[in-house]
Amino acid sequence: MTALPPPIDHAARYRQHLQACGYTPKPASAWDARAAQSGWKRRHDDYSDAFLARLDLRGVDSVLDVGCGPGLLSLPIAARVRQVHALDYSPGMLDGLRAAIARDGIDNIQPWQLAWDDDWSAVPRCDVAIASRSLMVPDLAQALAKLDAHARRRACITFATGPRAGVTELAALLGRAWIPMPDHRYPINLLLDMGREPRVDYLPLSPPDRERDAEELLQQVESLFGELTPAEQQSVRAWHAASPDNRLGLAPTRRWAFIWWETAG
Ligand SMILES: C[S@@+](CC[C@H](N)C(=O)[O-])C[C@H]1O[C@@H](n2cnc3c(N)ncnc32)[C@H](O)[C@@H]1O
Repeated sequence: MTALPPPIDHAARYRQHLQACGYTPKPASAWDARAAQSGWKRRHDDYSDAFLARLDLRGVDSVLDVGCGPGLLSLPIAARVRQVHALDYSPGMLDGLRAAIARDGIDNIQPWQLAWDDDWSAVPRCDVAIASRSLMVPDLAQALAKLDAHARRRACITFATGPRAGVTELAALLGRAWIPMPDHRYPINLLLDMGREPRVDYLPLSPPDRERDAEELLQQVESLFGELTPAEQQSVRAWHAASPDNRLGLAPTRRWAFIWWETAG
């Protein structure tokens, strides 16, 4: 018989994985710029429908939405519960949310400009706490514990299952090293370590944005892999021309795991 290997410290492994990817936390200003991009809602409608179809709000009075952005989920959830607390560290994102609240005359969404690692003691605990696509943080174990502690009944997150469609293929095409960011295995294991029973589902993959032209694609590829040589640019153009599926569009072309669990109450 061989001895059992030592238990895996998933929190430490997650931090090591982030380091290996060269991850640096994004400042709120990086999200402010994105909030200004038009068409956020239209591009994310499929995602929001898929998320809301899986979110159990039966008997729920209040919801906390962490990393709420311009309110893709807070707004429809507010139509179904008494109170929503919407938290984000980006003033630009919260301005987008406030504009929608004013436009639609909504009186049951309370925005909070706070970060994952700020003090949330002023924010009321809610029946359900959600964090949709907002958990790429330096300390995932701490963020999950915080979300869990703020939910009386259930918590729910989405986490990427892998890089967005096309990235791995492009890395191989260009012969570039590419370390994917940590995926949904980390929160699942961390929740098990916390004594929770995570339930996992998978949201359907949205179709790529076929409208993107070769020049836009080249810009995106350079933002991911750095400057391209003329020969590499030619390979990317050929890849673009080979199929309308060969795009890294702005659409959420990532497969998201939908993970929820019952909290301690
Ligand atoms: C991809 S958007 C998701 C928005 C919304 N939850 C959705 O699914 O459409 C990520 C959001 O998380 C917010 N966010 C990222 N890091 C954060 C942090 N450390 N603290 C608070 N909010 C954060 C960003 O400002 C942004 O609004």
